[in-house]
Amino acid sequence: PEHRPLFGRHVLVTAGPTHEPIDPVRYIANRSSGKQGFAIAAAAAALGARVTLVAGPVTLPTPPGVDRIDVISAREMSDAVKKALPVDAAVMVAAVADWRSKEYHGEKMKKRGSAPPALLLTENPDILAQVAAGKQRPKLLIGFAAETEDVIENAKVKRKRKAADWIVANDVTSVNGKGVMGGDANAVHIVTGEGVEDLPEMPKEQVALALAEKMAVALDEIDPR
Ligand code: C5P
Repeated sequence: PEHRPLFGRHVLVTAGPTHEPIDPVRYIANRSSGKQGFAIAAAAAALGARVTLVAGPVTLPTPPGVDRIDVISAREMSDAVKKALPVDAAVMVAAVADWRSKEYHGEKMKKRGSAPPALLLTENPDILAQVAAGKQRPKLLIGFAAETEDVIENAKVKRKRKAADWIVANDVTSVNGKGVMGGDANAVHIVTGEGVEDLPEMPKEQVALALAEKMAVALDEIDPR
């Protein structure tokens, strides 16, 4: 392809859910399929970027030209992301579990008596916030926000709180009555320091291409060559 506006740029993408182990056979997870993140990795590579994709447990093929690092838990994802820095741009699409089990039981927990065990949770690292606060902060740092209410307002607050440059907000309650998580379409709002760009509902591949094109333009402004 002739159109390679991300050529010479290194882009990091996180995608998928994380699995937080409770014991050898049980874990805490969420409904993220990884489709949107994988599509963004594919789009950035198609536009010429060198792409590192840190992927949680998903069953998706690696897009062509993408370096993939598979991880399971949020802590593993955090380590892999730190190792991948520095990069020019990072897009944190992963649905990182907010909490993990405070204790990991090395043996399968047994049903003993009738009282079910209580699961104590503890907070996971916020990978996006860590990268934003770190010495190797990418010049363009993008987060995602899956929301079920006050989508844009929450995204604006999240952009500031996490010190991200852009937040891509999507309403995960429904796209045309179908679930976004696991689905093939998405309607997003790109919240930047300048304003909000609303994209109509489109396939996740197209959302990815639109975002990658916008990233190329922004990188050429931030870091011209
Ligand atoms: O606060 P919330 O989880 O909605 O923020 C979503 C954004 O933060 C996403 O970009 C997600 O990848 C990132 N995130 C993260 N580490 C966490 C939680 C969220 O990088 N522990």
